Amino acid sequence: NKDVIIMSIESSCDETSCALVKNGREVLSNIIYSQIDIHKKFGGVVPEIASRNHLEKISQVIDEALEGADLTFNDVRAIATTYGPGLVGALLVGMSNAKALAYSLGVKLIPVNHIEGHIYANFIEHKELEPPFVCLIVSGGHSHLVYMSDYGKYEILGKTRDDAVGEAFDKVARTLGLGYPGGPKIDALAKSGNPNAIEFPRVYLEKDSLDFSFSGIKSSVLNYINSCKMKNIEIVNEDVAASFQQAVVEVLSVKLIRAAKLKKVKNIVLAGGVAANSGLRNYLISLSKENDLKLYFPSIELCTDNAAMIGSAAYYEYISGADADLNLNAVPNLKL
Ligand code: KG4
Ligand code: ZN
Repeated sequence: NKDVIIMSIESSCDETSCALVKNGREVLSNIIYSQIDIHKKFGGVVPEIASRNHLEKISQVIDEALEGADLTFNDVRAIATTYGPGLVGALLVGMSNAKALAYSLGVKLIPVNHIEGHIYANFIEHKELEPPFVCLIVSGGHSHLVYMSDYGKYEILGKTRDDAVGEAFDKVARTLGLGYPGGPKIDALAKSGNPNAIEFPRVYLEKDSLDFSFSGIKSSVLNYINSCKMKNIEIVNEDVAASFQQAVVEVLSVKLIRAAKLKKVKNIVLAGGVAANSGLRNYLISLSKENDLKLYFPSIELCTDNAAMIGSAAYYEYISGADADLNLNAVPNLKL
């Protein structure tokens, strides 16, 4: 059988996930157990609690992935695991399970970079998409503009100098008392707000720079709220959310288009949790048309953390000969 079925495991943050992916692009099952409800009451992910919950759920998630695909371990050609970046204790749970499986089944162990995985989420649903393209990766931990020239080949064109975009969404949401994770809550509120109500700064940095900075806008939102409170001005959460989101979306979009022109590509790609943002998607749908570019983004479920994207990336690693030994360690600050 020429088909390569890979079992992939993802546990870098607060999702315990296992998927079975065929030939890098066809998802046979993708089980995601989210710990969000557990971490919500702490206002963010608590690393130790994340590790313990991964440990509790991982076996069940693996079983469900096999069941969902109607397969057995005998059908699995290789085991893939996220090895970074992420929380070290959380990563180690998925990795040790992956190692044990690879060892006992006598199959290859494929290490996958989580950031890379986010990009590959696009290959699952867009069968015609191939590199080269420019990708904007925006998640809770990363904000990167990347030129992907081929599978596994990346040139970083720009990245954040301070906070990640998702982090800014989460912090602004917390300031507004919306709870964790804030991105989806801001997104929902923004739909009924006025994006031009408050003039938050658009931080473009030096001329031609493709880097980002989001700590300034976060402080601007905080200052705005404090000054409203002092002056007894009513704060309209919908307007704050919409104006904040608009400012961030404009900067991300303008730089993505600029990067595409610089690298002379026709395809632009979104990846990571913030790629689920409806404001960003909609703004880029029209901006890409105006600029004669083709825009790709994953469905909402594949934007946030999941094992299917790891299985897709693993396939391309597998066919280029990747094979980790059992000493593979977690790399919490792994770079793309
Ligand atoms: O990719 P992801 O699941 O985890 C990381 O690798 O970081 O991204 C999670 C981040 C969180 O910061 C969350 O608030 C944000 O993605 N996010 C959103 C939306 N959905 C998730 N941000 C803006 N709008 C959304 N709809
Ligand atoms: Zn992620």
